[in-house]
Amino acid sequence: MISNTHEAKRIEDALATGINPVELFRDWFNGVSNHPDIKLPDAFCLSTVSPDGKPEGRMLLLKGVDNATGFRFFTNQNSNKGHSLTATPLAAMTFYWEAIRRQVRIQGRVIEASSADSDDYFNSRPLMSKIGAWASDQSQRIESRAALEEKLARCEAEFGQNVPRPPHWVGFDVVPEMIEFWLEQPSRLHDRFVFKRSGTNANWNCVRLQP
Ligand SMILES: Cc1cc2nc3c(=O)[nH]c(=O)nc-3n(C[C@H](O)[C@H](O)[C@H](O)COP(=O)(O)O)c2cc1C
Repeated sequence: MISNTHEAKRIEDALATGINPVELFRDWFNGVSNHPDIKLPDAFCLSTVSPDGKPEGRMLLLKGVDNATGFRFFTNQNSNKGHSLTATPLAAMTFYWEAIRRQVRIQGRVIEASSADSDDYFNSRPLMSKIGAWASDQSQRIESRAALEEKLARCEAEFGQNVPRPPHWVGFDVVPEMIEFWLEQPSRLHDRFVFKRSGTNANWNCVRLQP
């Protein structure tokens, strides 16, 4: 992985001919995915707005990046975040990779993935994760740990080896409208490159911001 000074210069030079920030994210993500000191390169904070207008954030795992459809994650549609996204289908994703001192912030509209895509990913999961998706009414109150484990055992007995995807367990794509790349630099004079889509087309404009 090249230094932040070299990377900032590389981005600056590439701006002259045009640069796709989703591709740039992919470059960085591929770099951190093999980094020995970054244990969860795919972990990010998903920020949403609750139905009563309050900001809320929680960590999730990134499960895909696509130029057309954006940044994918999976969750329970009946969870708190699921209700928030139904009311306000907008979200922010924040990645921070401490070992390389870089942050990426993404904002955009949130669109539910197709059932076929959710099925494909669900079917690739380990058996007990699939059963856990049925056992947990994510974000609902539970009386005790024992009650959760009893529910898991009931689901295990019911489904055996063939666990269908719960209809409320779905993928979502954040279709980016803004992507900011932040690189730490000495004396807190960090580099910030902010890309925004111009209208609905695929052209991205970049501005640099003060740290
Ligand atoms: C590192 C990490 C990764 C997580 N990944 C996911 C995920 O991919 N999907 C998910 O629904 N919850 C994930 N969680 C749990 C969420 O942070 C959160 O507790 C849960 O989704 C309920 O959030 P909500 O009540 O705001 O809907 C993860 C938690 C951590 C700490």
